[in-house]
Amino acid sequence: MEGWIGRFTKEFLKRSGEHLIEVGITGSGKTQGLYWILEGLIHHSKDTIVWFDSGKSSEILTLSTMKELNLLIPEGLDVEIESEREIDVSKTYIGDLNEIWMRLDENRINVITIWSFILDPVIFTEVVAKIFTSLIRYAHEYRIKTPLTIFYDEFHTVAPARGHGLSEKHYRYGSVVQLNIERLRSLKIRFVATTQGWTKIKKGVRDCFNWIICRRGASFSSDQPKLQRFNPLFEKLKTDECIIVYPTKLFSDIIKLPRYDDGESLGRVRYKGVFEHSLLEEESLNGVKSRG
Ligand SMILES: Nc1ncnc2c1ncn2[C@@H]1O[C@H](COP(=O)(O)OP(=O)(O)OP(=O)(O)O)[C@@H](O)[C@H]1O
Ligand SMILES: [Mg+2]
Repeated sequence: MEGWIGRFTKEFLKRSGEHLIEVGITGSGKTQGLYWILEGLIHHSKDTIVWFDSGKSSEILTLSTMKELNLLIPEGLDVEIESEREIDVSKTYIGDLNEIWMRLDENRINVITIWSFILDPVIFTEVVAKIFTSLIRYAHEYRIKTPLTIFYDEFHTVAPARGHGLSEKHYRYGSVVQLNIERLRSLKIRFVATTQGWTKIKKGVRDCFNWIICRRGASFSSDQPKLQRFNPLFEKLKTDECIIVYPTKLFSDIIKLPRYDDGESLGRVRYKGVFEHSLLEEESLNGVKSRG
């Protein structure tokens, strides 16, 4: 076991710029798996960390047990945390979403809290497009602190396969990610992502994840023939078990992972306000560029 994890530490955690995706059905331990990787990165890398908060289970509180936090919150909205424990959280309010990547604190876990404020799928799609377009643009201009690791639970919401997006526009915006995800890697920006289904993610995007972690029910299609043969093995994984697939497609024995406290057991996170469309129209990407 030490050997598999040792290799993962040396070849993934300590080496920046390789994308990783964790695949498994709902309830298979994917979010818990992200905490495990995050803890490993905190110990073994100097990467700046970004975590997109899904708002699903007060995950901010679990993150706060690992390191100090910098919450990035759209201006006019707010996040309130109630907890018995003392928590070190700073808040950065963002007026223009394009600037989010320039407001990162390399000494804290940067938590982007935005999805909990959005109720409208049209706004969601626009915000995803805006945030990822500015990531790519500023990365190319070397204006983002790297190496950078971006944790993104449920990545199929960023680059959905055809038929899995909220709209045709949502699907098309995924092409921005597809076109740039390899380039981001070479700029030392990597994604650690999850998905409930391999084929829910756009084909050209899922091909860019060199590292795969299989959880229960990971089911591969014919574009991964070697892994597809082992779908029955993945079917039987327990909630605390995973299999790491290395870039060579060699894969580990079954590895047991630790359990982290669910945020809900540590307190409560409240999101105040709703993200309105007007917040999006405040500035165009060009507006920022001409000021910069
Ligand atoms: N390593 C582990 N040891 C013990 N229990 C675990 C472990 N990992 C996950 N669990 C249990 O399984 C539950 C589901 O885990 P988790 O929320 O990470 O799954 P998920 O795949 O992210 O689910 P979803 O798709 O619904 O977000 C956890 O609340 C926890 O109770
Ligand atoms: Mg989850």
